[in-house]
Amino acid sequence: MAVLLLFFLLIFTFTPLSQSQSFLGVYDGQFADNLPPPESTANLLKSSAFQKVHLFGSDPAAIKALANTNIAITIGASNSDIPHLTSDPSFAEKWIDTNVAPFHPASNIVAINVGSFDPAIEDLLRGVLSFNNATGSAFAINQYPYFAYRSDPRPETLAFCLFRPNSGQVDSVSKINYTNMFDAQVDGVRWTLDRIGLKGVEMVVAETGWPYRGGEE
Ligand SMILES: *[C@@H]1O[C@H](CO)[C@@H](O)[C@H](O)[C@H]1NC(C)=O
Ligand SMILES: *[C@@H]1O[C@H](CO)[C@@H](O)[C@H](O)[C@H]1NC(C)=O
Repeated sequence: MAVLLLFFLLIFTFTPLSQSQSFLGVYDGQFADNLPPPESTANLLKSSAFQKVHLFGSDPAAIKALANTNIAITIGASNSDIPHLTSDPSFAEKWIDTNVAPFHPASNIVAINVGSFDPAIEDLLRGVLSFNNATGSAFAINQYPYFAYRSDPRPETLAFCLFRPNSGQVDSVSKINYTNMFDAQVDGVRWTLDRIGLKGVEMVVAETGWPYRGGEE
């Protein structure tokens, strides 16, 4: 089972570079309120052209709702599980038994995303990055200007986050005049990678988005 997990992790790591087939995918976030029930989301997906869905967590209701649709499902491990998943094979086995085995193959789970890191697991992140560095694979990042707006909900910030006309933000170090949050965030990660000796690691923005009704109720 640990081997299976490793296999999943590698798929995720290599996808940004090796994925040459074209497809439509969708991210189904659960980090919000007023979300439609999983069954409605599943029905929407079934009636659309989407062949892949990325769940942020491993909500059993959401996974079950996608059973027998053949839609490729990526589930996510929580930040608190990630250190145990990578260091403890018996934990990894239990995680698979709980989150994958009961639903697969009726629900077509194809990958587990461990990409949503927080600073508390910096060592692990460094490990992943040196793997990216050594193998020439891209580092996938999730970029959400919305969270910057949420912590500073002013109209100027909203315009800056939504690529609307605004007065710009000059970075005090680079002197670049940023006119949107997305560019500033991507450059922020780039700057950090460069600083820790990883100039050669390519970045891919794997996720971005804005919540339905986010900010303009
Ligand atoms: C990144 O890879 C280069 C080339 O293989 C190597 O010289 C460098 O030490 C690596 N940097 C880190 C931080 O692992
Ligand atoms: C930054 O760009 C904005 C939008 O083009 C512009 O209004 C603003 O004057 C610029 N700021 C500086 C300091 O150049």
